[in-house]
Amino acid sequence: NKGKYEHYMQKEIHEQPESLTTTMRGRLIRGGSCKAKSVLLGGLKDHLKTIRRSRRIVFIGCGTSYNAALAARPILEELSGIPVTMEIASDLLDRQGPIYREDTAVFVSQSGETADTLQALEYALENGALCVGITNTVGSAIARNTHCGVHINAGCEIGVASTKAYTSQIVVMAMLALAIGDDTISSQARRGAIIDGLFDLPSKVKEVLKLDQEMKDLAKLLIAEQSLLVFGRGYNYATALEGALKVKEVALMHSEGILAGEMKHGPLALVDETLPIVVIATRDACFSKQQSVIQQLHARKGRLIVMCTKGDAASVCVGGSSRIIEVPRVEDCLQPVINIVPLQLLAYHLTVLRGYNVDQPRNLAKSVTTQ
Ligand code: UD1
Ligand code: F6R
Repeated sequence: NKGKYEHYMQKEIHEQPESLTTTMRGRLIRGGSCKAKSVLLGGLKDHLKTIRRSRRIVFIGCGTSYNAALAARPILEELSGIPVTMEIASDLLDRQGPIYREDTAVFVSQSGETADTLQALEYALENGALCVGITNTVGSAIARNTHCGVHINAGCEIGVASTKAYTSQIVVMAMLALAIGDDTISSQARRGAIIDGLFDLPSKVKEVLKLDQEMKDLAKLLIAEQSLLVFGRGYNYATALEGALKVKEVALMHSEGILAGEMKHGPLALVDETLPIVVIATRDACFSKQQSVIQQLHARKGRLIVMCTKGDAASVCVGGSSRIIEVPRVEDCLQPVINIVPLQLLAYHLTVLRGYNVDQPRNLAKSVTTQ
């Protein structure tokens, strides 16, 4: 049931304040005079000791689910102190890459039925790793076959393009990082700030959804473009990849997410006065580096659309020619949840304006059960 919305993708984008609330329900502890703020993931509580002892955490997934894991990687590394590596499921299988008994392998999948991810799970089980699932579908193959896991509880997702599952997956993996790091005194203040940030997140998502009309106006400007680049780094490298994935899969426009640190190693050659480029430059430890990227793109007459923190327009706008998308600020590691929303809206409006099928893009299926 689409309710007041025209498409499931639109409904699922706008329902993110509620889906995130459901994802966190019963899992965050506010703390009090004698109790610290903390996280409770029922499905993992008996396995946290084993996870903390593992030599490596390996994230495994495909498409949007892989991007969600990439968004959570920095906070997991920070709070766990364990090396975290990333694997696209098909590539792990193609290489028969090393997976060890001392590894924790985390399988991320909305449907819980993706063939590549499921096969990678069988492979990791054979190699003796502890296998953890992060899925949206209770009773799915991945939920059943992992040793333990967390349901993201985002509610049924119908649009082929994954939107609300992405933001809920990031939140679950941030909670996973909090749970693993729970025994470390030195990071207690940081963890408290993230938990406060999680409590605030649904209202901040509501705020960023108000950019709907602005994104529709931007889509009108971009309707006839051949290509769109999205530059990000740090916490928001994943936002660049995921924003570009949304644009290509539903709006059928070529789009590429680019790690801003790689700009000079190739992508800079593409920059001219015609190609539109989104630069994500919200406040975090990488902000000044992104300011310098903006200057360099501007020097080559790049057609820039800059996403920045509310109130920062003047600090990211060189020469006054860029378009600005201002978003609310949240704790740095949660910022990808906010920053993807305008790009989801942009992909949605571009698709409608270009006259393509929003909920069932050509050639794609919701659940990819063949290899
Ligand atoms: C569980 C209940 C929830 C109830 C809550 C109350 C289910 C599905 N969930 O939620 O209805 O409100 O207790 O305390 O009954 N699992 C995997 N792999 C996965 C995902 C999950 O093995 O990919 C396992 C978990 O380890 C756990 C079980 O499935 O044993 C349920 O996981 P989850 O729903 O996340 O647990 P709770 O949040 O505790
Ligand atoms: C993108 C999209 C796909 C899926 C991918 C993995 O919007 O929907 O890239 O994310 O096929 O699917 P799951 O998460 O079900 O394993």
